[in-house]
Amino acid sequence: MTHDGSNAANPPAMPSITCIGAGYVGGPTMAMIAAKCPDIRVDVVDVNAERIAAWNSDELPVYEPGLHELVSQSRGRNLFFSTDVPAAIRRADILFVSVNTPTKTYGLGQNRAADLRYIEAVARDIARHADRPKIIVEKSTIPVRTAEAIRSILQTSDVPHAHQVLSNPEFLAEGTAVQDLQNPDRILIGGETTPEGLAAVDRLAAVYGHWVPVDRIIKTNLWSSELAKLVANAFLAQRVSSINSISALCEATGADVNEVAHAIGTDSRIGPKFLKASVGFGGSCFQKDVLNLTYLCEHFGLPEVSHYWDQVIRMNQWQKRRFADTVVRSFHNTVNGKKLAVLGFAFKKDTNDTRETPAIDICRRLLDERAVLSIHDPKVEAAQIHADLGRDADDPAVTVCPDAAAAIQGAHAILVLTEWDAFRDIDFQAAYAAMMQPAWIFDGRNLLDHDQLRSIGFHVWSLGKSLGKKLKI
Ligand SMILES: NC(=O)c1ccc[n+]([C@@H]2O[C@H](COP(=O)([O-])OP(=O)(O)OC[C@H]3O[C@@H](n4cnc5c(N)ncnc54)[C@H](O)[C@@H]3O)[C@@H](O)[C@H]2O)c1
Repeated sequence: MTHDGSNAANPPAMPSITCIGAGYVGGPTMAMIAAKCPDIRVDVVDVNAERIAAWNSDELPVYEPGLHELVSQSRGRNLFFSTDVPAAIRRADILFVSVNTPTKTYGLGQNRAADLRYIEAVARDIARHADRPKIIVEKSTIPVRTAEAIRSILQTSDVPHAHQVLSNPEFLAEGTAVQDLQNPDRILIGGETTPEGLAAVDRLAAVYGHWVPVDRIIKTNLWSSELAKLVANAFLAQRVSSINSISALCEATGADVNEVAHAIGTDSRIGPKFLKASVGFGGSCFQKDVLNLTYLCEHFGLPEVSHYWDQVIRMNQWQKRRFADTVVRSFHNTVNGKKLAVLGFAFKKDTNDTRETPAIDICRRLLDERAVLSIHDPKVEAAQIHADLGRDADDPAVTVCPDAAAAIQGAHAILVLTEWDAFRDIDFQAAYAAMMQPAWIFDGRNLLDHDQLRSIGFHVWSLGKSLGKKLKI
C-alpha cells in the first residue's frame, strides 16, 4: 500500500494539473507540486499577462525565501506558466482554482461578504472549455457552500459533464510559504460523500501523497473543509487581537507584554506561537476572512456569533490607530512638517506583499496630521508604496528611500512597522547623530534592543511595555 492507501501494484494514472490564478498561492503551491511530482505536468494560467511574464522571468512577481530555487527546478520541465486559459482547462484532469476572493466593495454585503465574481468567471470558463469530466479544486478561500454555486454554474454548459468539485484550502503563510508547502501541518480535502466524490478526494490525496505523510491528509465533507479555512484564519487573527489588546493593558499597568506572552505561552493548552504583540495584523486574508465569517453568521441568523468575531477586526483597527496617535501625542500633538522615518511597509517580514498592511493605515493617519514620511522597505517597490498611500511619486510628503540610513537622515523619529531582521543591524549610533533631537524610536514590533537604544540617548516607545510612570493602584 502507498501513502494514500491505494494499491501500489495498480497505481492510478498520473493526472495532469492546471491552476487558474498565478498569485501568492497559485504560483508557489504549483511550484511545490511540480517539484515533488516530476511525472505530473503542471500548468499555471492567469489573465494577467504581466504576472505570467514575471513568472517566466528571473524577477518573480512574488518574493518568498526559497521560491526562486523552487520554480527554477521545474519551470520548462513539468511546470509551465501561460495566459492560455482555455487550452490549460482542456488539458487538465485536476483544475485548481486559486483566484482572488476579495471583500465585496459594493451592493449587498458591501465591506463584509466575499466578492465571488472571479470564482464565477472561472466556473464559467470551465463550463465553456471543459471537454470531459474534471476534478475542480477550490484552492481560494471562499464562503461555506460556494461549491454549490460552482456546481450550478457548471450545469449551464451546453454539454454538462459530471465534474467533481473539491475543497482544498491553502494554509501557507506568506514569508514562510515554501517551508509551509514543503512540510504542511495538514492538507485538508473536502468532497462529496458519494463514491465518485470519495474517489476524487483520493485522487487529489494521491498527488499530495508524493511528499506529505498520509496521517497529515485530512478528508472531510465539502462544507467542513470550506468552513475550516475561514475558522482557522479567524482563530489566528483573534490571537493577534487578543495579545494586542493586552499590550495596551501592559502599557497602562507596568506589565511587559513579552513577559506575559511567554508566561501564558508555556501553558501547553495555549502554546507559544502567534503571541507576539504588534501594530496589528495585515495581509490579504485575515481581515477579509473574518469579515466574511461575520457576514455568514448574520446570514444564517446568528448575530451574537457575528458580533463576537467582529470585535477581532475592531481591536485590530484600534491598535493601528492607537500606535499612530501615540506618535502624535509624543510630539505634543503635532507632527505637522516633522520628518518621520518609517522602517518597513510590508505586512510582515520576508514578503513584498502590502495588502492590508498596518503601515497603510498608520502612514495615512500620520499624513492626515501633516507629517512628512520617509519610508524604507527592503522588498516593497516605491511605486507600490505610493499607490497604497494614494500619493504621487513626486509628492513631497512621501519619499521612498533605498536604505534605512537615507530614511533616517534628519528625521525626528523612527517608526518600526515591519519586523525585518535587517533593521536590527542598523548603526543606531550613527542614526542618532543624523537625527533631529530629541530623537525618538517607536518600535511597533518590539524588534530592537531598547536598553541599548536608550543608552545611546534615544527616547524609546515600545509596544506593550510600561513607560516607566509611577503606578497608582
Ligand atoms: N495570500 C495568502 O497568503 C493566502 C493564503 C491562503 C489562501 N489564500 C487565498 O487564496 C486565494 C488567492 O490568493 P492570492 O493571494 O494568491 O491572490 P492573488 O491576487 O495574488 O492572485 C490571484 C490571481 O488570480 C488571477 N485571476 C483572477 N481572475 C481570473 C480568471 N478569471 N482567470 C484567470 N486568472 C484570474 C488574478 O489575475 C491574480 O493573478 C484567495 O482566495 C486567498 O484568500 C491566500
